Amino acid sequence: MNTTRPNSNSLTIDKTMKKITIALLSGGISSEREVSLNSGRQVFEALNKEKYNIIRYDPKTDLNRLTSDAPQIDAALIILHGPYGEDGTVQALLDLLNIPYQGSGVLGSAIAMNKLVSKQLYEKAGIPVPPYISVQRGDVPDTRAYVEQLGLPVVVKPVQGGSSIGMSIVKTEDSLKIALDKAFSYDDTVLIEAYLKGIEITGGIIGNENLEALPLIEIIPDENHEFFDYEAKYVAELTQEICPAHIDDALTEKAKVYAKMAHHALCCRGYSRTDMILKDQNIYVLETNTIPGMTRTSLFPQAAQAAGLSFSQLLDRLIELGIEEHKRKC
Ligand SMILES: Nc1ncnc2c1ncn2[C@@H]1O[C@H](COP(=O)(O)OP(=O)(O)O)[C@@H](O)[C@H]1O
Ligand SMILES: [Mg+2]
Repeated sequence: MNTTRPNSNSLTIDKTMKKITIALLSGGISSEREVSLNSGRQVFEALNKEKYNIIRYDPKTDLNRLTSDAPQIDAALIILHGPYGEDGTVQALLDLLNIPYQGSGVLGSAIAMNKLVSKQLYEKAGIPVPPYISVQRGDVPDTRAYVEQLGLPVVVKPVQGGSSIGMSIVKTEDSLKIALDKAFSYDDTVLIEAYLKGIEITGGIIGNENLEALPLIEIIPDENHEFFDYEAKYVAELTQEICPAHIDDALTEKAKVYAKMAHHALCCRGYSRTDMILKDQNIYVLETNTIPGMTRTSLFPQAAQAAGLSFSQLLDRLIELGIEEHKRKC
């Protein structure tokens, strides 16, 4: 048990103050390991060294060291994406070790990692989602019926995961089976969604009790990328990201409200980023990310910057919110 945790209002620099010890977790074992390592490096560089003593851990190799260091750690920054990082498992370990961390707890993290459960909760909350069908491993796929119900094209995606891995856009019934097989190589449940051609936007939320919606970002992949796929996400010049998004005030407001509703519906805490499609003046929610990309130029840090928070200040704020949330739970 750490008895010297600073209170949430004491994170301003004071030379006499003890540095805050941060466990920076990046790497891990999901297919987004490289993305996480890259974010981890940039987060390390941006953290204020006068304020923080930073110890780095890669959950792939360093869980024992993290466990034994726990009494000296004031807070953790989980910069991990996908299963065994963003899905509540690492959050559960940190809860057991009594270490505060940024963002959602076990429940919100686990829910948001599953795109099917998320959709069911969005629908219950009155948030529009693209029409969809879910298919389990072992079901005999009826591609004709899927196409009759959803039309073409459709998007096929594993229910868990991220960075568009295992995802396909399918334009003919014949190619649907191949796309399903690909998605099933990542997961036991697969979603088939109507492909909505529209403007892609993403909405960041920050806060615990009082949620603030950050300026929206409009995402325009270049003409060689049909959607925001892995390459378009991580090769900077392939995608245009416009912040604030060029959409009218009423739709901007609506998208921000949906981002907040999605954050609530999935029991998220601290921050989140909800991906949406704007089509024919209607907004549809695709998914909510509980640990959005955290390089300096990633979407959430860009939106925070537009709201006046530098990358380093954003990290301070996320740590503060994490410590505040930990106190509330204790
Ligand atoms: N139903 C859809 N209609 C149109 N484009 C979609 C749809 N679903 C996903 N996409 C595209 O695929 C990208 C990734 O999908 P998303 O559901 O956000 O999963 P993740 O980002 O976790 O891989 C989106 O950013 C968007 O470009
Ligand atoms: Mg997404």
